[in-house]
Amino acid sequence: MRRIEIFDTTLRDGEQSPGVALNSDEKLQIARQLAKLGVNVLEAGFPISSPGDFQGVRRIAQEVRTLSVAALARANAKDIECAWDAISVGESPRIHTFLATSPIHMLYKLQKSPEEVLELAIQAVRLAKLKVGDVEFSAEDASRSEVDFLAKVFSGVIKAGATVLNIPDTVGYATPEEYAAFLRAVMERTTGIEKVKVSVHCHNDLGLAVANSLAAVGVGVHQLECTVNGIGERAGNAALEELVMALHTRRDQYDVDTSIVTTEIARTSQLVSRLSGMVIQHNKAIVGKNAFAHESGIHQDGMLKDRSTYEIMLPSDIGIDAETIVLGKHSGRHAVHQRLTDLGLDLGESQFEEVFSQFKILADRKREVTTADLFSLVDLKTETEDQIRLDYMQVSSGTHLTPTATVGLLYNGQRLEDATCGDGPVDAAFKAIDKVLGTEGKLMHYSLQAIDGGEDAQGEVTVTVKFGDNMVGGRGVSTDIIEASVLGYLQAVNRAFDRGWIKIIEKNAS
Ligand code: KIV
Ligand code: ZN
Repeated sequence: MRRIEIFDTTLRDGEQSPGVALNSDEKLQIARQLAKLGVNVLEAGFPISSPGDFQGVRRIAQEVRTLSVAALARANAKDIECAWDAISVGESPRIHTFLATSPIHMLYKLQKSPEEVLELAIQAVRLAKLKVGDVEFSAEDASRSEVDFLAKVFSGVIKAGATVLNIPDTVGYATPEEYAAFLRAVMERTTGIEKVKVSVHCHNDLGLAVANSLAAVGVGVHQLECTVNGIGERAGNAALEELVMALHTRRDQYDVDTSIVTTEIARTSQLVSRLSGMVIQHNKAIVGKNAFAHESGIHQDGMLKDRSTYEIMLPSDIGIDAETIVLGKHSGRHAVHQRLTDLGLDLGESQFEEVFSQFKILADRKREVTTADLFSLVDLKTETEDQIRLDYMQVSSGTHLTPTATVGLLYNGQRLEDATCGDGPVDAAFKAIDKVLGTEGKLMHYSLQAIDGGEDAQGEVTVTVKFGDNMVGGRGVSTDIIEASVLGYLQAVNRAFDRGWIKIIEKNAS
């Protein structure tokens, strides 16, 4: 069976999703999990885009050494030098350089002639090749490019040393049959195509990213580019979990396999969702909450008689296992430690002690502490590194009351506090935080969901907040949904503060 490579771009294209901004600790955490998942290439970021991204890519290249780490660069010397500086410390680095080849992009965006684009692409690959053996060239908006021109560019960059050619459907415009025919035509007309790997990178604007990628498998491509949970620019990218499970479940059709450890899929999906703040829709294929839920009586009856009546994959295939030991207020250190280890959360001694004391507090507030709760406790622990923390909050609202909130925040060794009114208790609390800090956040998105089933479930709030021109996400978890909202808002504030997008005006200190 032919093996197809998985190129994960969650930390680059996925991070380009509106409102997603990961710090370098979070990126490293995801990168380590992607290594466990077994991806072949991990695109860690776009180093020239910001000093934070540069550092994040460098840290990943330094610390995640079991796979190839790629960095993105436009087709110019400055980008390529910067990408190389970031990944040269890695074990198996790849420079990924790109340039648009469609008439629309060349005319309006680049304002360059096809001849100039051809020359720039060749120069870029030549320069990248002086730095590293593994060079990927992407023809941006390839699917709307002219076949002959694209083949000419590809033939040129192969000669210049490219090892991987990527043929993206950048705007998600292609349809599966058309894309397959296009790929065939380009590959047939490219000189030297047999010397390189061919890759596809599909966006989901028409909901066809996975279908188009699978059509490309039929053509014989070597690499699929995708993101966990399908996050990415606009409607996102092809979802890794959908591609991998389609290839795995329908081996009879595709006759290829991947190196992905499918039992790590659920864990990876949850980690990316938690850290990116991008909630997974309940009916999302493979990793949605309802993907393995059977509601109707007829289906439940069939399932009880034989699972194969309605189930084409097992939850355990993607790492969802029924838990045998219930954790609650009587659980001791050993049981909690064991469950954390089983979940791949290997904490140091002092980290574990912090999580365990939080576990005890939570277990007093709810009957059963679930896997999702444990993940949230580990996340909350990382929030203790935040510069601005919640000391206390008090909110009043009711049918004939103006919603009012008072918050006390800890910053710079002081307690800052203030109070204000709002349209509702959450709005009042967010406004009070802004008043305390002298910031002006505009709430763009707010969602609340129960972290797990059950009447005593914790509430998980995700927010997207705009500070000036920058959008940032945050997430908070608590048994009290107003507190969860405040924690989510504060996480967004801290992320904006870390990136220098907001300044704190200290007043009202006590
Ligand atoms: O969608 C796209 O074309 C890209 C390239 C940079 C590969 O993300
Ligand atoms: Zn893309």
